[in-house]
Amino acid sequence: MVKIAATGDIHGRRFLDLYIKAMGELPSDVEVLLLCGDVINKGKAEDVELVIEATRRFFKGRVYACFGNEEYETVQDKIVELSRGEIHWIDESIVKLYMSDAVITLIGTRGCLDRPTRWQRRNIPRIEEIYARRVEKVRELLAQVDREENSILFMHYAPTYKTLMGEEKWAWPELGCRKMEAVISSYRPTLVLHAHAHRGEVAKTAIGATPIYNVSLPARRKIMVIDITALKRTTLDAYW
Ligand SMILES: [Fe+2]
Repeated sequence: MVKIAATGDIHGRRFLDLYIKAMGELPSDVEVLLLCGDVINKGKAEDVELVIEATRRFFKGRVYACFGNEEYETVQDKIVELSRGEIHWIDESIVKLYMSDAVITLIGTRGCLDRPTRWQRRNIPRIEEIYARRVEKVRELLAQVDREENSILFMHYAPTYKTLMGEEKWAWPELGCRKMEAVISSYRPTLVLHAHAHRGEVAKTAIGATPIYNVSLPARRKIMVIDITALKRTTLDAYW
């Protein structure tokens, strides 16, 4: 058994009290914590230190994070520096985790949107191209993963609309990217996690045999805890 914990959208001080309360309920046998972006709020890099301090009160294990839209690209380096290795940021890359009972391949990305927000269209040149490239990058990374291994794809934006019920329907293309669904069903990672949908009512869905969780803290109001080795058995059963 290998238990992983996951959350996202702490947004610095905005949901810090909720995060502290939720972390107080974390089981003691969790081995790794994944933060699915928007750890800080509106680019305020210093707040990563608050989140680390709150995290370490309850959890001494390894912490990995992907960036969210609130981790502005202009402050990414500062966030990494202030994290001092307490949070390992994974951005469009692979990390292998050697756990007590399994090896887990971790793939982190910010994810993408089917329709860039109005702000993004105005302020980020060629944003559509960036998003299209990001989907292809995820495909490339997943192609490198051995299907016998446990793998977790974690991102900030939703990789499907299936978890977006509860959010305004017109906004779904600005909350997630359905192009990721095809990539997930081709490569079948063991688990996919996302955040960003603060009002997403659906905690868990699936694409093929792969479970997809929206772990957004304001939506779930707790830290999600998942036994990755149990999932792998279920996924293999479905595959064979
Ligand atoms: Fe977000």
